[in-house]
Amino acid sequence: MAIQLSNTPLLEWAGDSLAIGLFEDAVELTGELATLNDKFAGILKEVIAEEEFTGKANSTVFTRVTGGNAVKKVILVGLGKPEALKIDTVRRAAAAVAKVAKKQKSKTLGFSFPLWNNDPGATAQAIAEGVQLALYQDVRFKSEPDDKASKVETVELLGFDGQEAAIARANQIVSGVILARELVAAPANAVTPITMAETAQAIAKDHGLQIEILEREDCEKLGMGAFLGVAQASDLPPKFIHLTYKPQGTPTKKLAIIGKGLTFDSGGLNIKGAGSGIETMKIDMGGAAATLGAAKAIAQLKPDAEVHFISAVTENMISGRAMHPGDILTASNGKTIEVNNTDAEGRLTLADALVYTDKLGLDAIVDLATLTGANVIALGEDIAGLYTPDDALASQLEQASATSGEKIWRMPMEEKYFEGLKSGIADMKNTGPRPGGSITAALFLKQFVKDTAWAHLDIAGPVWTDKENGYNGSGATGYGVRMLVNWVLGTEV
Ligand code: BES
Ligand code: MN
Ligand code: ZN
Repeated sequence: MAIQLSNTPLLEWAGDSLAIGLFEDAVELTGELATLNDKFAGILKEVIAEEEFTGKANSTVFTRVTGGNAVKKVILVGLGKPEALKIDTVRRAAAAVAKVAKKQKSKTLGFSFPLWNNDPGATAQAIAEGVQLALYQDVRFKSEPDDKASKVETVELLGFDGQEAAIARANQIVSGVILARELVAAPANAVTPITMAETAQAIAKDHGLQIEILEREDCEKLGMGAFLGVAQASDLPPKFIHLTYKPQGTPTKKLAIIGKGLTFDSGGLNIKGAGSGIETMKIDMGGAAATLGAAKAIAQLKPDAEVHFISAVTENMISGRAMHPGDILTASNGKTIEVNNTDAEGRLTLADALVYTDKLGLDAIVDLATLTGANVIALGEDIAGLYTPDDALASQLEQASATSGEKIWRMPMEEKYFEGLKSGIADMKNTGPRPGGSITAALFLKQFVKDTAWAHLDIAGPVWTDKENGYNGSGATGYGVRMLVNWVLGTEV
């Protein structure tokens, strides 16, 4: 699909579907829109009245038009109240339009949208992101696509002539989101620790990043007993991935993104039972997928910060070599962990990844992990939990999230709950009581960060969606990539 920029006047555009963004309670069609309505013999006003279209955010109506103009259909999309217009509303409205246009079998689609914040660059970028994210279809595992219908081929942004840089930015970010979606959606027999390392290598090669892959022996030398304990039952080798983006000059700041990278989570000997969703546990590398997706985007966007992308990748399996429930592991900072539940494996892999990253002497670390079902119970499917002792980092991430539209909610790091992880025999257990399970998980991670500002995002809910959800189709969402990009770019739009 090609995105074109033009200064074609609304009244002169020709094509299959013309999309018009309208604010709530301002749908009476004045000026140019009144002229357009006249041109179509008043049908726009009729459809607005008949369908009681009020311009509520994300609502759409469309109609076939005739009247000498070379436009087949008009799609009206609501943008909500003008004073409440958020950049993500624009992105979602563009996505809603794209879905209607696809259904209507439109090949060419024109957008006439008002500017967000008088900023044509940010507006064009959001439209381009919304359209591409909504229209992406994963056909890698189909012998024949379900949907052979005609596709949207050309999207034209009217009045956005000269915004090529914004479209390039959108494309770079979308390439990262789609990589993350594809990694999460692919099953555990297609995405393994080996292929994750290969994907990281390909990103490094294509976009000029430094890369280091630590093999099992390297991790042994570093004393990563927690990570390797999880990895020990798998027939596949663990891979510890470390990609680095370095800017041209002196970096303004040094950041790290860490992702939980379980290419499959069987639970280990505390095996996930029937009804536990074991068959969905290919998604347990969603943090690593967001990390690699962010690496791909950031390597192209070239910010002034240095960024490290890290994941301790393995499977959580069972075999004669598996961890026994009750085993004691020693992490790379010397702390001992009684594994009272082998299904709380993500935090074990993250422990060694955090110790490694903490030693790099950076300004901040953000980890993303499909860590706990408890987080989904607390916040539902759409909202990630944010856990950090650092208020400044929390507000950076909250801003990044507000702009990207990927929702987060700050949760308490209630130190008293660490008592639930006290072990009679080791320094700590890996699992506490069921209540507050996502909080004890975060408190466990905190034991492995000493010197660096750190935040943890539990993305077990939003990594996947069963229903169509804004610019996400159903399935893998690529959650986190756009937020991470915003965070690294200094939370600018
Ligand atoms: N990968 C799971 C968490 C998860 C659950 C991700 C649902 C996505 C959807 C994690 O490794 C896990 O098994 N957590 C356990 C922890 C428990 C044993 C303390 C859980 O949440 O039940
Ligand atoms: Mn688990
Ligand atoms: Zn897991």
